[in-house]
Amino acid sequence: MTDNAFPEADRAAVYRAIAERRDMRHFSGGTVAPALLRRLLEAAHCAPSVGLMQPWRFIRISDRALRGRIQQLVEEERVRTAEALGERSSEFMKLKVEGINDCAEVLVAALSDDRERHVFGRRTLPEMDLASLSCAIQNLWLAARAEGLGLGWVSLFEPQALADLLGLPAGAKPLAVLCLGPVEAFYPAPMLVLEGWAQARPLSELLFENQWGVSQ
Ligand SMILES: Cc1cc2nc3c(=O)[nH]c(=O)nc-3n(C[C@H](O)[C@H](O)[C@H](O)COP(=O)(O)O)c2cc1C
Repeated sequence: MTDNAFPEADRAAVYRAIAERRDMRHFSGGTVAPALLRRLLEAAHCAPSVGLMQPWRFIRISDRALRGRIQQLVEEERVRTAEALGERSSEFMKLKVEGINDCAEVLVAALSDDRERHVFGRRTLPEMDLASLSCAIQNLWLAARAEGLGLGWVSLFEPQALADLLGLPAGAKPLAVLCLGPVEAFYPAPMLVLEGWAQARPLSELLFENQWGVSQ
């Protein structure tokens, strides 16, 4: 800790939001007040970005019929994903992978068009635009958790189909359908763990020293 550290309670709140953030797929309807939604989007907009390119664009889906069409795109991809999974197909189909119809708000997060002109930090790693957008979504996710709102990141869709549906310009790319809103309760652990789909690995297995695979 340094002199620049937050007070104890503030630090605890930051770590609490990080630990208790969950990807949510069960929502209890309701609404998100405009001022709160604005606050969350401002939090997203505070994110770091490579070369300060700020590649994030958010599209709020307020049209109920459009929301339904997005859900349909996700459903189509859910079926294709199940087919691609082979022997785990039926197990996958039992998972709840989105809450588009039940959440208070749907936001689509997209990469901007015209990203090629941003070379700083992307000459060898062009995907740093995606990393930057991900930082913005994580900010939104953590702020939502602190506000008591759930957020679910849905990436099961054909990007071009969603881009066409929302009128994205050439070069822009939707990366996330974000379901946001009140929930009954936050899952105590990742839902994929609770459902027996996957196990989370401990940090100790993923932390190396000096050379890949060498533990401390
Ligand atoms: C980039 C990204 C895409 C994701 N896409 C989906 C998705 O399409 N459907 C879904 O149910 N969960 C999706 N998730 C949520 C993950 O399954 C979840 O983060 C992971 O199981 C860990 O759970 P936790 O977020 O509650 O800690 C996505 C998460 C990330 C980071």
